Amino acid sequence: MHAADLPDFVEREANLAKRNTLGLPAHAALYARITSVEQLAALADFYAPGDCRFFVLGGGSNLVLSGDFDGLVLHMAMSGRALVGEDADAWYVRAGAGENWHDFVQWTLAQGWPGLENLSLIPGTVGAAPIQNIGAYGLEAGDRFHALTAFDMQRGESVRFDRAGCRFGYRDSVFKQEGWHLDGRFVITDVTFRLPKHWQPLTGYADIAKELAAQAIEEADARQIADAVIAVRQSKLPDPAEIPNTGSFFHNPVVAAATAEQLLAAYPNLPHYPQADGGVKLAAGWLIDQAGWKGKDLGPVGMYEKQALVLVNRGGATGADVLALMQAVQRDVQEKFGVELTPEPVFL
Ligand code: EPU
Repeated sequence: MHAADLPDFVEREANLAKRNTLGLPAHAALYARITSVEQLAALADFYAPGDCRFFVLGGGSNLVLSGDFDGLVLHMAMSGRALVGEDADAWYVRAGAGENWHDFVQWTLAQGWPGLENLSLIPGTVGAAPIQNIGAYGLEAGDRFHALTAFDMQRGESVRFDRAGCRFGYRDSVFKQEGWHLDGRFVITDVTFRLPKHWQPLTGYADIAKELAAQAIEEADARQIADAVIAVRQSKLPDPAEIPNTGSFFHNPVVAAATAEQLLAAYPNLPHYPQADGGVKLAAGWLIDQAGWKGKDLGPVGMYEKQALVLVNRGGATGADVLALMQAVQRDVQEKFGVELTPEPVFL
């Protein structure tokens, strides 16, 4: 990257403190707000394969900034949302990568296209949604995904990924595997969702069922489910605008069936969810809670008092403070339960 030749829209020494929802202090040597594919094409000349000095930023809601970044941050701000197709079974709805996720979901519901309601109020952008395959209350973005367009910085052209090409998993996709995302090679520019005309409500998740019952709603429509999801999230999860956080800080760990059996013998209340592949998913929040970390701080960071899985910045934290708490929680959960917790956010 020859900084002297970079296009005019690239800024130098950009402050990232307001661009990550954990509110960590950091600067990027170079920063570009991207609103068009043409800008990406102009920057492709500076991309080198295997060079990790390009980082694609969305809402910054799943990001831990360890310190200053000596590369180019591509802040995705591409806008637009539209119905792009329709058949007997579905509406196909496309949005620019920079659109706010929650606003997009509420807009689809207002248009009368249900299907994304369970994912209401998840922070972040449309372009980031497929990267970690965001999910909540029995639904994942991948379940409603149709296709996306990404700009390949290495070849200087737009490419299409269908659902199989994205290799979605639990909080995972091809863009998190093999370092693709950190490389900054594939920059997602828009995403198309397939929203079902023969919609079925997904209200099996205990918290949502309880919320709907409390409101005496028997056959919930998509709007009512969205409202229930919003109420549940607001009661448990801190609003990043008020208490900086990145949502769940760890994955829910999946252990072998035999390990789960041993743990259940010792801890009969341990929440556990058998998986199709024979493994058993455990609730990281419960493990952290039982290890004594719920509502407990280490320096300026802590594990949230209403949901132990969420790491919060009480004010003035740095990346080093976050790493210290992460390691302390991992160590205590490992010691007490023999279970390894892996972090969910991307580290830069
Ligand atoms: N629990 C505790 N103590 C706690 C937190 C949780 O005992 O402090 C127990 C709960 O009582 C429950 C179980 O752990 O029995 C699971 O908790 P919850 O239903 O709140 O969900 P979660 O497994 O902690 C996951 C996702 C969330 C998503 C919710 C709802 C992951 C890592 N997290 O949380 O996603 O909103 O389910 O579907 O899969 C995110 O990814 O940022 C996120 C918030």
